[in-house]
Amino acid sequence: MPAMPDVPARQLKILVLHGPNLNLLGRREPHVYGTTTLAEIDARLRALAAELGVEIETLQSNHEGALLDAMHARIDQVDGCLLNAGAFTHTSVALHDCIKALPYPVVEVHLSNTHAREPFRRRSYLSPAVLGTVQGFGWRSYTAALRALVEWLREREPPAQG
Ligand code: DQA
Repeated sequence: MPAMPDVPARQLKILVLHGPNLNLLGRREPHVYGTTTLAEIDARLRALAAELGVEIETLQSNHEGALLDAMHARIDQVDGCLLNAGAFTHTSVALHDCIKALPYPVVEVHLSNTHAREPFRRRSYLSPAVLGTVQGFGWRSYTAALRALVEWLREREPPAQG
């Protein structure tokens, strides 16, 4: 049998979505969310993505429909998504349905531990639809979620040929 040519493993692509009010991180309730800005979180995620050898795209919107559109538009382009839907977590059936409709896994991310806060934050419409949730570690929730998702995806990747 002729030797198979070396086919490099495809680079994983992860979408990172930040929902409403997260553009104000750094100055928004720092006693709850810390003082790290969204730009700093994205920079830390980009550095980690480079370390892990994956591609990431980050996007923030205050609009529920824009978050839905972003996930739909990349339906065949990304391998997974980190989603901090902010307050839409506690209200959005549309995001729940969207996550269920997607072929790629979504990880729910929160800076704060939503279960340790007001009762209305204890209900997540996303949790029943996502692969898993990381919360309560401040900005580290995002980096922990990225590491876990990449490991999870790599375990499921078909073995590289060659
Ligand atoms: C949040 C928690 C939500 O309850 C809140 O509405 C947010 C931020 C978090 O990251 O801790 O906007 O998603």
